[in-house]
Amino acid sequence: MTGGTTLQLHSFPEGGIAAIAGATGAIGNALLTALKASGRFREVIGLSRGGSPRLDLLDEECIATAAQHVAGMKGDLRLFIDATGFLYNDAFSPEKSLKQISAAQMAHAFALNATGPALLMKHFLPLLPREGKSVFATLSARVGSIGDNKAGGWYSYRASKAALNQILRSAAIETARRKPDAICLALHPGTVESPLSAPFQKKGLIARAPESAARELLAVVDRADAGNNGSFLDYKGEVLPW
Ligand SMILES: NC(=O)c1ccc[n+]([C@@H]2O[C@H](COP(=O)([O-])OP(=O)(O)OC[C@H]3O[C@@H](n4cnc5c(N)ncnc54)[C@H](OP(=O)(O)O)[C@@H]3O)[C@@H](O)[C@H]2O)c1
Repeated sequence: MTGGTTLQLHSFPEGGIAAIAGATGAIGNALLTALKASGRFREVIGLSRGGSPRLDLLDEECIATAAQHVAGMKGDLRLFIDATGFLYNDAFSPEKSLKQISAAQMAHAFALNATGPALLMKHFLPLLPREGKSVFATLSARVGSIGDNKAGGWYSYRASKAALNQILRSAAIETARRKPDAICLALHPGTVESPLSAPFQKKGLIARAPESAARELLAVVDRADAGNNGSFLDYKGEVLPW
């Protein structure tokens, strides 16, 4: 990895499994590479639409099949990071004003940024072990913060990430009842060079390399303990307002 020594991730019990959803994305791929390099996990598995097992957020059956695959692997699932996400495509751009809101764009953003990750929680959170540290982290975004919203716009992205944060929070509370050592986090990766962010990078705003972001996010995950369960943190570990 760029920018320092290999991460040790010593807070995680040895011999577990780490899984990344959205492993083809800029941040997801960098997370996958860093986790493999750490040597802390018995297996590091990348899940994606084009991979095997296939993981498509729009298809619950294949999410369930991917979870069964991971459940069948030797070792406990100690770390799951959801690095999927949607901001724009050929049909939809972030809305600058109310006039641009469309039901189709709202539905698409919610399907990918909120409902899909909720289905990942439904199928993968039950795989976390009852004892010892385990983490389920989902990549949210600071713009999903209602308290921090000073610029407006980006209705569907902001709202779908706010919904994601709420879902993550409920899942964290439910999971802690049976698994007090498990930690669920919503993480803001900061501005990172990627296809998702490229068209929107403001002049003067420094986008970090995905490798640096992955390193910082994994350091946050490594430092996290049960007291952080259900929180919204940035890549420095600072608590963000909901
Ligand atoms: N980059 C930034 O500056 C920034 C800032 C704040 C938050 N974030 C958040 O960080 C996360 C990762 O962003 P990124 O910059 O790495 O974006 P990216 O490079 O565009 O990666 C997005 C990932 O989502 C996957 N994905 C899209 N639709 C999917 C579906 N239907 N099923 C399964 N996977 C699907 C993509 O898979 P395919 O390869 O199959 O398309 C890809 O792996 C997102 O949640 C984003 O909102 C990023």
